[in-house]
This record gives sequence, C-alpha cells and structure tokens, in this order.
Amino acid sequence: MAIQYLALTTLTVLYSLMFIGGYISAAGLGLTCPEWPLCPNGIMPSEEYLIEWVHRLVAATTGVLIIATMVAGLINKNADRKIKTTSSIATALVITQITLGALVIDTKLHAVLVAIHLGIGIWLFGMVLLTTLFAFRLSKSAKTSSD
Ligand code: HEM
Repeated sequence: MAIQYLALTTLTVLYSLMFIGGYISAAGLGLTCPEWPLCPNGIMPSEEYLIEWVHRLVAATTGVLIIATMVAGLINKNADRKIKTTSSIATALVITQITLGALVIDTKLHAVLVAIHLGIGIWLFGMVLLTTLFAFRLSKSAKTSSD
C-alpha cells in the first residue's frame, strides 16, 4: 500500500480508538475487564468484556499500523527527515501508550495515569496526523518529478 494511504488508514483507526476510549471512560466501563493483556475468558470476545476487548484489539491494530508506517517511511528513498522523525516518535508513543494502558488497569484507573493516557493519546494523534500530511506531500512531489 502506498505510504500516504497507509498513514491515512492509521490515522482513521487511531481516531476510532480514541473515540472508543472516551466512551469507555465516560460510561464508567474502564474496569469491566480487570486483567491484562487478556480478559478473564481469554482471547475470545464475550458480551461481558466486549468494549474493553474492542479497545485492546484496536490498540494492537493501531500499534501494528504505526510501526508499518514508520518502516515504510524509513525504507522510502525519497522520504525526508521529517516523516522519519514523526513516524518514529509515533512508534515510541504507541509502545508507551500500550504499556501505560496496562498500568491504568493494574492501578484500577488511577486518575493521574488515566489523564496521562489521554495526554499521550493526543500527542500520538498529532504525530500520526503530521506523518499523514508529510506522506501526502511526499507522494505529490514524487508524482511531480516523474511528470
Ligand atoms: C494506541 C493505544 C491506545 C490509545 C491511543 C488509547 C486511547 C485512549 C483514550 C483517548 C481514552 C480516553 C481517556 C479519557 O477520556 O480520559 C482511553 C481510555 C482507556 N484506555 Fe486506552 N488507549 C490505548 C491503549 C490502551 C490499552 C492497551 C489499554 C489496556 C489494556 C487501555 C485501557 C484503557 C482504559 C481502561 C480506559 C478507560 C479509562 C477510564 O475508565 O477512565 N488503552 N484510551
């Protein structure tokens, strides 16, 4: 997949993840699945843990997409330092965010950690947004130079 569409897909999945996280928080469902990384019934979804299960599944998908976008940027000969930097920061942030998600569960939703979880989510969104903008600019300049 071209890097700009990979980055845009990543941005869209990340936005959905943040939306689901906001819903979990506002609806007070943050501890419906009290264990990590899996819910008590294992890998399969169940009605009881569904919303948390979806948040974790989409978080794992987001992590894979963010790493894939970084790799696509790093191996692209025409990519400049900006896209490599923002996609690498996004990778560091997503790993931190997933680790923090585990701590949020472990500390039974410690308020400071939940606030940091939101804060890192916003930073992450910013980095993925910038990566997407740089990726579209990259594909445009590659098209112009081939014309
Ligand atoms: C890329 C990874 C992730 C992102 C971007 C993300 C984002 C978010 C956001 C934006 C919220 C709403 C916070 C608020 O409204 O204050 C949230 C809530 C939450 N997240 Fe994540 N999350 C990620 C991964 C995880 C993981 C891996 C876990 C746990 C295994 C987790 C557990 C939670 C919990 C329990 C809440 C609800 C907190 C509460 O009830 O107040 N998150 N997440």
